[in-house]
Amino acid sequence: MFRSWRKTTAAVAAFVACVWSFQAHAGDAVAADPEVVEKNRKANEACFACHSEFGFKNPPRTDMDMKKLAETLYDPKVFAGSNHGTMDCRQCHGQGYNDYPHSETGKSETSPCSECHATKVARLEPQYDASVHARLESVKAKFTCATCHDPHIDLGATLLKDPLKIAVQDNKACLECHDSDEVFAKYAADDDKTPGIKKKRPNIDTIHEWLPNTKRHWQTVRCVECHTPEVKANRPLSHEILDKEKAEKNCLSCHSANSSLKTRLYRHLVKDEQDRLGFTNSIILSSSYVIGATRHPLLDKIVIGLVALTLGGVLLHGAIRIVFAIRRKGKKQ
Ligand code: HEC
Ligand code: HEC
Ligand code: HEC
Ligand code: HEC
Ligand code: HEC
Ligand code: HEC
Ligand code: HEC
Repeated sequence: MFRSWRKTTAAVAAFVACVWSFQAHAGDAVAADPEVVEKNRKANEACFACHSEFGFKNPPRTDMDMKKLAETLYDPKVFAGSNHGTMDCRQCHGQGYNDYPHSETGKSETSPCSECHATKVARLEPQYDASVHARLESVKAKFTCATCHDPHIDLGATLLKDPLKIAVQDNKACLECHDSDEVFAKYAADDDKTPGIKKKRPNIDTIHEWLPNTKRHWQTVRCVECHTPEVKANRPLSHEILDKEKAEKNCLSCHSANSSLKTRLYRHLVKDEQDRLGFTNSIILSSSYVIGATRHPLLDKIVIGLVALTLGGVLLHGAIRIVFAIRRKGKKQ
């Protein structure tokens, strides 16, 4: 009797998991049941009673590690507006956090992304495995999907749409490490020459000093635009962060009418426009996101300068070769 009850429960659980994962794959096509969402929001209030600014200022008990709590605060409104905002915290965290002090096993019960996004993870994982962070010995073990993706805050690019918002969200993860000595040191390997001392963080603006107004670029375009290979138009994002030698340095890959950004950062705008008008171009060429070589006076000069330099270089190179060829001929004779 007991065993068959267990079997039934297992079957029901499997069915629920199946339906659940189907929903997760279907993307935002499947609107969550408003009643369930309401129930989940109510249930989450129990967690926000501590894990929010309000909870921190009005702690329900006095025997807590307040320093640790301060590092684990979330804004209920931000969470509600995120990818996972319709969910119950316990769908990812299990039942180990229902009471305080939390159970010792709580952390090991956190669901991995693959539990609900199996198809996506199967597609992304090989790219991720080939990326610099997954290959560098020092970084590998500490790097997970959640290192870049905050499941409590992030909102999918498809929903954000605005390139400026997408850029801020996606660059935040990279900059959190690459623009902070303290965080970088937690991940970096020991220095080659002085073991025991962490490798120094290369300054992000110095590395890219060939790029004019780096700060403006960090606000408007993503690190991954230059640091990942471009893949198919319908699958434009790769998780493979390339070796630095392979990063994009060509200004015209973005600053041209045929900008690669059309299939990357601006793809959601382009798609929107295509759906609306049946063709594209006007947004990229007329909205404030425009970065084509014709809009920005300084940029115009730089692009013209670059073209002139390239042309000049080619001409000079040609001239020198002709001179040398003539001289060699002269010597032979
Ligand atoms: C009474 C206050 C309180 C409540 C309610 C509470 N937490 Fe916590 N939680 C804390 C504190 C304090 C910490 C800091 C680490 C510690 O002391 O265990 C923490 C830590 C955590 C951590 C990090 C664990 C780790 O080992 O790093 C998670 C995850 C967590 N809580 C999830 C939840 C979830 C989910 C809920 C709701 C079901 C919840 N908490 C409810 C106070 C609370
Ligand atoms: C989609 C899954 C998911 C949902 C939903 C979710 N979390 Fe988390 N949470 C995670 C993951 C994954 C981590 C571990 C992050 C890491 O390793 O850096 C985490 C970490 C935490 C931590 C520890 C943070 C730290 O810096 O140590 C707290 C506290 C927490 N979650 C609370 C909550 C609360 C409260 C809710 C509901 C309002 C919630 N989580 C909903 C996946 C989720
Ligand atoms: C317990 C199940 C669960 C877990 C675990 C989970 N998610 Fe989700 N995720 C969902 C659901 C449900 C949605 C919303 C789908 C919808 O809108 O219908 C979602 C949506 C998303 C989206 C937005 C849609 C998209 O694909 O662009 C992203 C991105 C995402 N999750 C990333 C993650 C990452 C990264 C992790 C691991 C840190 C994770 N999720 C863990 C259930 C989960
Ligand atoms: C080095 C940082 C980084 C790591 C690590 C990372 N991601 Fe991403 N991920 C990104 C960025 C940047 C985007 C770009 C958002 C876009 O344009 O859609 C993204 C997009 C996504 C998306 C939405 C777009 C899509 O292709 O469906 C999902 C889902 C996702 N990541 C899941 C994962 C999972 C699962 C892992 C772990 C295997 C992971 N990510 C690890 C940075 C990272
Ligand atoms: C959690 C910290 C962290 C995050 C987040 C992170 N990185 Fe890194 N990254 C590192 C560390 C540490 C190294 C290794 C430095 C070393 O040992 O040389 C590194 C190395 C690199 C390198 C140099 C690879 C080479 O050829 O030497 C590039 C490029 C890079 N990261 C780009 C990115 C981009 C783009 C993102 C965001 C999508 C990102 N990183 C997110 C910590 C991080
Ligand atoms: C316009 C394209 C472009 C953008 C945008 C860009 N990078 Fe780079 N990055 C490069 C190129 C090219 C190199 C190689 C530089 C060289 O060899 O002179 C590089 C080098 C690096 C390195 C290697 C540093 C070293 O010497 O070890 C890191 C780390 C890095 N970038 C991180 C980032 C981060 C983080 C962002 C986003 C804030 C970013 N990059 C944005 C093109 C770009
Ligand atoms: C990955 C795409 C990308 C690459 C590569 C790139 N840029 Fe940009 N650049 C942008 C975007 C997006 C903006 C923001 C446009 C705006 O301000 O409206 C921008 C802005 C600029 C600006 C205006 C800055 C300001 O002060 O307002 C200049 C100048 C510029 N880029 C020059 C360059 C040069 C020179 C290179 C090559 C060394 C380059 N860019 C490479 C995307 C790129």
